Amino acid sequence: MPYNLLKGKRGIIFGALDENSIAWKTAETVHAEGGKFVLTNAPIAMRMGSINNLAEKTGSKIIPADATSVEDLENLVEKAVEILGGKIDFVLHSIGMSVNVRKGNHYTDMNYDFTTKGWDVSAVSFHKTMQVLYKKDAMAEWGSIIALSYMAAQRVFPDYNDMADNKAYLESIARSFGYFFGKDKKVRVNTISQSPTPTTAGQGVKGFDGFISFAEKMSPLGNATAQECANYTVTLFSDLTRKVTLQNLYHDGGFSNTGVSQEVMEAFIKHEE
Ligand SMILES: NC(=O)c1ccc[n+]([C@@H]2O[C@H](COP(=O)([O-])OP(=O)(O)OC[C@H]3O[C@@H](n4cnc5c(N)ncnc54)[C@H](O)[C@@H]3O)[C@@H](O)[C@H]2O)c1
Repeated sequence: MPYNLLKGKRGIIFGALDENSIAWKTAETVHAEGGKFVLTNAPIAMRMGSINNLAEKTGSKIIPADATSVEDLENLVEKAVEILGGKIDFVLHSIGMSVNVRKGNHYTDMNYDFTTKGWDVSAVSFHKTMQVLYKKDAMAEWGSIIALSYMAAQRVFPDYNDMADNKAYLESIARSFGYFFGKDKKVRVNTISQSPTPTTAGQGVKGFDGFISFAEKMSPLGNATAQECANYTVTLFSDLTRKVTLQNLYHDGGFSNTGVSQEVMEAFIKHEE
C-alpha cells in the first residue's frame, strides 16, 4: 500500500543480488513509494545475479562498483548525481561477506588475509562510501544513510564468526561518521539490526536453518522478513524520521530484548509421563 513517502527523492541502493536480497525488496518498495535511485553491486555479482530485471522493473540505471574501491565509489557517486539530476537523499548499504565463513574457517583458526578482506567488504566499505559522499558534498540536507547489521555485534552467536566483529565495526562507523554528517551536512546515519533472513549471505552462515527457527520461536512477533525490513527502511528514508541518527535500530520482532520464550522453554521442560 504505497503512501508516496519518497516522492521526489533520489538514492543509491547497494547489494541487490537476487530477489531474496534485502536490497532487492528495498528497491521495489522505494520504487513503489515514489523514490528514484541507481542500483549498484560488485562487478562480479552482476554476472551472477539478475539485477537487470530489477533495473527494468524499477526504471533504474545500474552502475557497477566494488564497494572496497574508492575509485569505483567516486565514479558511482558522480554518475548517480548526474543520472538522478541532483543530490542524493538516501543510501542503502546492504553488503556483507566473510571469506573465513565461505571457506569454513573456524573463528579460532582464522586466515587473517581473509579476515582483512571480509572486514573491508563488510565494514570499511561503509566508511569509504560515506567519505566519498561527504567529500563530494553529494548528500542533500536531511538525507538518510542506512547500513544493515546483525545482533552478533552485541552478543555471541558462535557460528557468525568474524562477521560479528565486522558488524560491531560497521555500527561504530555509523555513529562516528554520523556525528560529522549530522553536524556538517544535516544528514542522518543509522544501522538496522535485522532478524536472520533467508538470503544468499544469510544462508552462508553455518547452521542457519536451526538458527532462523530458534529466532522465530524466541521473537514475540516472529522474525522480521526481508520485505518488512524494506518497509522499515523506507520509513527511515522518509521525512518522518528526520531526527533519528547515530542509532542501531533493532528490527527483529523483539528477539533482542527477549530472555526466553514459552516455546523455547517447552523444549527443555521435563514433562511427567
Ligand atoms: N540475511 C540475514 O540473515 C541478515 C541478517 C542481518 C543483517 N544482514 C545484512 O544484510 C545485508 C544484505 O545481505 P542479504 O542478506 O540481503 O544477502 P545478499 O547476499 O543478497 O546481499 C549481500 C550483497 O553484498 C554484495 N557484495 C559483496 N561484496 C561486495 C563488494 N565488494 N562490493 C559491493 N557489493 C558487494 C553482494 O554482491 C550481495 O549483493 C548484509 O549487510 C548482511 O550482513 C543479513
